Amino acid sequence: MNLLLPRLSLCLVSFLFTITIAQESPLITRIAFGSCANQNAPHPIWEAINKFDPQLFIWMGDNIYGDILKPIKFIGKERTLGPWKNSPKFVPSSEEEMKLRYAKAKSNPGYSRLKRNAKVIGTWDDHDFGLNDAGKEFDHKVTNQRLMLDFLDEPLSIIFFLSGVYASYTFGPSNRKVKVILLDTRYHRDPLRSDGSILGDTQWAWLEEELRGPRSEITIIGSSVQVISNLSATTGPVFYMESWGRFPKERERLFKLISDTKRNGVIFISGDVHFGEITRYDCAVEYPLYDVTSSGLEQSIETFFPLPLRFIVRLLFWYTPSTMRLINDNCKFKSCTYGQSNFGAISIDWNANPATMRLEIRDVNGHTVLGTNVSLSELQAQGSNSPTNPPTKGKSQRYCTLEVELPGTTRYRLAALIYFTFSVFAMAFVGPIIGVVLTITACVYKCKLD
Ligand SMILES: *[C@@H]1O[C@H](CO)[C@@H](O)[C@H](O)[C@H]1NC(C)=O
Ligand SMILES: *[C@@H]1O[C@H](CO)[C@@H](O)[C@H](O)[C@H]1NC(C)=O
Repeated sequence: MNLLLPRLSLCLVSFLFTITIAQESPLITRIAFGSCANQNAPHPIWEAINKFDPQLFIWMGDNIYGDILKPIKFIGKERTLGPWKNSPKFVPSSEEEMKLRYAKAKSNPGYSRLKRNAKVIGTWDDHDFGLNDAGKEFDHKVTNQRLMLDFLDEPLSIIFFLSGVYASYTFGPSNRKVKVILLDTRYHRDPLRSDGSILGDTQWAWLEEELRGPRSEITIIGSSVQVISNLSATTGPVFYMESWGRFPKERERLFKLISDTKRNGVIFISGDVHFGEITRYDCAVEYPLYDVTSSGLEQSIETFFPLPLRFIVRLLFWYTPSTMRLINDNCKFKSCTYGQSNFGAISIDWNANPATMRLEIRDVNGHTVLGTNVSLSELQAQGSNSPTNPPTKGKSQRYCTLEVELPGTTRYRLAALIYFTFSVFAMAFVGPIIGVVLTITACVYKCKLD
């Protein structure tokens, strides 16, 4: 019985989603997506998204900033920064406040226009889940799930069957089907550094069913946090980001599931990190897995810095090693990341032979700043019984080496640079102070003697 009940609700959920989608099957050729949209900002990016004219828009999380960021305080009663901090930097806001923020986001004129012309679906990340970096322990999650589904105009009835906001949708006529699977990486996630679960048992069982389900030419798996890139391995120990890479067992399980279900044509989309990046991993399954990350519809990393310092951000991106980042001639900057306002754009040319997807990150003017073309024939397992196509497990190969496998001198070069710079500055400031103190002490001692 215990086993049957979740199973039954799982079927019901799949059934509910199937009926809503079965009626609509227009050919999908343009999909846009994005994440990290502070509801208080004006969002000129919607204009570029509307110009791209997507049939489908996917929210990838941090669709609003629901939690409250407390001011940075080193000293005083409530200290939010430093090893001596005694107060959390983020606190959840009330249900009323969350509602107001969603209302503000929903009433943005550019977004309203998009919503009239495109189907809008989505998942959430930590700030709209309700608290920075939060997981399954967060006690506002039930209420906030209701508010989030309400924002998306999803039927609230699904809440009775579903804990979390994961869902799947299939679009398009037969032989040109696009399936979108949206994961919930928050509701069931174990604490960071636990190497526990991201999805939880029920969502894993559901995902397996979805991947084994009817064939689709393209399967887009949306995860709020990055699946392929594990930048934390090269930015640590200075700072860490959230990603599937931080849960290595869970990430292996995901790749194995794609392999085992023999699902072809899978690509990932993600958000969260406040910059745009396209990554690929050639040695996870039998074909290259792409992860297109668009982050910062509005909250992008360069906007956190004053204009004259923004080039430093790009320089640091370029300097930080990455083994999975797609490097090609379509990048606006040499780093092949993009730290300004951006959205993800997927265009599908079904008439090309073979059918081809164009994966792009576009800027606030709609110009491509990162991009690549991927033909669907590239995203097919070759079949394990074909001796002419052995899996390309070569450790030195680009897009195949894990970040943690880099030699220490390369892997930690960002940390080395930052700690070195920090020490030089510290010496430059602290050195003279020590000098003055020593001189005065020596003088006082000498003066006393005299
Ligand atoms: C990602 O990086 C973290 C931090 O260095 C590391 O603990 C983890 O094992 C890495 N994951 C993978 C899949 O390499
Ligand atoms: C990629 O596809 C677009 C059309 O979707 C085409 O205009 C462009 O030339 C292609 N680029 C390459 C390098 O094949």
